[in-house]
Amino acid sequence: MAQEARAFAPASIANLAIGYDIMGLAIHGPGDEVHVRLSEQSGVRITSITGTEKKLPLEAEKNTAGCTALKMLAEHPDADIGIEMEIIKKMPFGSGMGSSAASAAAAAKAVNALLDGYYTDKELCRFAMQGERVASGGIHGDNVIPSLLGGIILIRQNEPLDLIQLPVPEDLHIMLIHPDLQILTKDARNLLSDHVSMKKMIRQTANASSFIAGLYSADLDLISRSLEDHVIEPQRAKLIPYFDALKKVAHESGAMNFTISGAGPSMFSFCRSESIAQQVGKKLNQFLDNEGVASTVYTSNINTFGTQILEVNNL
Ligand code: HSE
Repeated sequence: MAQEARAFAPASIANLAIGYDIMGLAIHGPGDEVHVRLSEQSGVRITSITGTEKKLPLEAEKNTAGCTALKMLAEHPDADIGIEMEIIKKMPFGSGMGSSAASAAAAAKAVNALLDGYYTDKELCRFAMQGERVASGGIHGDNVIPSLLGGIILIRQNEPLDLIQLPVPEDLHIMLIHPDLQILTKDARNLLSDHVSMKKMIRQTANASSFIAGLYSADLDLISRSLEDHVIEPQRAKLIPYFDALKKVAHESGAMNFTISGAGPSMFSFCRSESIAQQVGKKLNQFLDNEGVASTVYTSNINTFGTQILEVNNL
């Protein structure tokens, strides 16, 4: 059995405008790292969380990474395994970039390395979804699964998990902007109405299906036309200052779309090239700067690797 392992899980964008709770993708750059090592004491102990000023829970059962590891140990035949865990946040918390999901994904992969790959990737998705539940209050894999597996993911059903890895058109680039604000996923979920009108359901279904058709045919025009959210964005946009003005700036700067990333406050656009993504990010950043809101821009193509093991040591 390995004694020590480190894994890095990337940030992710959930919902993708038209796939609330069922679609997401991974990006390059920001993410979380988790280090685990075997210990004498059975169970999971989180020894440190660094890289954030936010006080995240050290109790394993209240932490997305700790909870993922506990779920994995609970189904493992060796009931006595003990794990010590360090979490290194390399992305903002409460950002809509899948921060709690990245911790869960990195923990799943690192713990599995200690368990000599006992679980399949699909099982890791299930554990990490259960782990992420402690942060978001609901079961949804639209951050954690792309973070683990990479690429663009469609989740047809959570239980039993049925997921589809969608094609990634080569030219598709991402501009993600994180204004220096925090929105808790739980709060952004609680404000959503349980009811969707028949008219909105039809428009949303048409757009979601067309987006997927656009991915399969690498038709960026069809993708662009399809990324209009009639259900979630109109309810959540009020949480983000200047949202409508930012959307206008993004479209004028050449973005294919502009919407909220996950539960927000980050926002993202698909763009036809890296240079357009950078241009869109620059304009949005300048706009927010003029309004006195600091922001960080990330541009990236879609990360098809997902969570990576950085190191495994057999002491
Ligand atoms: N689909 C989720 C939401 C993603 O929008 O609430 C955030 O974790």
